[in-house]
Amino acid sequence: SQRKKIAIIGGDGIGPSVTHEAKLLLEVYRDKAGLPLDLWELDLGADRFLRDGVTFPKEIQIAVQRECAAVLLGALGDPRVPGMEHARDILFGMRFGFDLYANVRPVKALSDRLVPLKGRGAKDVDIVVFRENTEGVYVGMGGQFKRGTPDEVAINEDLNTRKGVERIVRAAFEYAKRTGRKRVCMADKSNAMRHAHELWLRVFDEVRREYPEIESRHLYVDALCLLVIQDPTQFEVLVMNNLFGDIVTDLGAALQGGLGMAASANVHASDPGRVALFEPVHGSAPPLAGKDIANPFAALLTVGMMLTYLGWPDEERRIERVVAAAIEEKACTVDVGGTLGTRAAAAWVRERVAREL
Ligand code: NAD
Ligand code: IPM
Ligand code: MN
Repeated sequence: SQRKKIAIIGGDGIGPSVTHEAKLLLEVYRDKAGLPLDLWELDLGADRFLRDGVTFPKEIQIAVQRECAAVLLGALGDPRVPGMEHARDILFGMRFGFDLYANVRPVKALSDRLVPLKGRGAKDVDIVVFRENTEGVYVGMGGQFKRGTPDEVAINEDLNTRKGVERIVRAAFEYAKRTGRKRVCMADKSNAMRHAHELWLRVFDEVRREYPEIESRHLYVDALCLLVIQDPTQFEVLVMNNLFGDIVTDLGAALQGGLGMAASANVHASDPGRVALFEPVHGSAPPLAGKDIANPFAALLTVGMMLTYLGWPDEERRIERVVAAAIEEKACTVDVGGTLGTRAAAAWVRERVAREL
């Protein structure tokens, strides 16, 4: 079959170390299972930006778009670059530039031990969040006026388009239908943000009629945050705008053992052939960088999501199962109750996967 080229960007903070472990897992799949993967490491991130001013060169962006099946990203964000210029160019350069409108973030607990809710276990936390990824307040519309004066005004506009809202809502329903999930809930703030979010309500109401077999529900996002903690079992698929999706998936990560366990995919859901971006939900966690303590499992689970996207869904299930076993046996980092470092925890998973292949 055709070879798949995968661009790898470690980025900043803990990004390079967890991404290194993810790369080693991909190498096991390439060398032991014979998956036709070509790995292409890119030196991008704060170090590169501070060294020679390069953020995300146009020719790299074009080459990735033309040649790659997927991108694996660690995390971006470095205290030496307070303006986050490089992070925005790279991260949004791919999310927006490749029109990866669906940020798919599973909130799935792999072990009872990881669920912090009293009386709840892994079986109670299995949600997939569809976060709109190309609009909302992330478009950067707005400005600062009379900056530094007592009359200063700062504005970020919330851009919502018919096309943009419809395609993410549809992606959520299509996903539910394809995977046999029975409930889709859309969360907005249409009671306060009347103009922008009334569109979400209207589009949701239209699209849901096309899926009568799926139970649909609307909540204001504040109420969703309450209910998902009180009883996560009532939710299967969630869909919401860019900002709410960002916030709700960090909240969701708390139900699955923390940010060290949360994986994500950024895809153009209606074009499965397009290059897609895979990244753990967590950031660069600067205080943890260089200490061999960051949890690499989010990055390894992200490799699983990538392998499903590339056509090997059994391997995502295998990685999940092996990570779950690592958690059970406490072969994991301290944030999830183990004693191992980043490298040793990832090696445990990698060796177990390699033995099974
Ligand atoms: P963060 O996700 O880096 O950290 C939040 C908390 O989770 C911290 O307590 C951290 O120690 C913990 N944590 C995160 N990942 C972990 C892991 N793998 N193992 C164990 N613990 C982990 O968020 P932050 O501190 O708000 O942001 C740090 C930087 O990362 C900022 O510059 C931010 O903008 C950036 N960021 C980047 C991305 C991305 O690249 N996609 C995502 C989120 C934040
Ligand atoms: C994420 C991050 C980013 C976002 C930041 C780094 C801009 O928090 O991927 O969740 O808000 O999308
Ligand atoms: Mn985030």
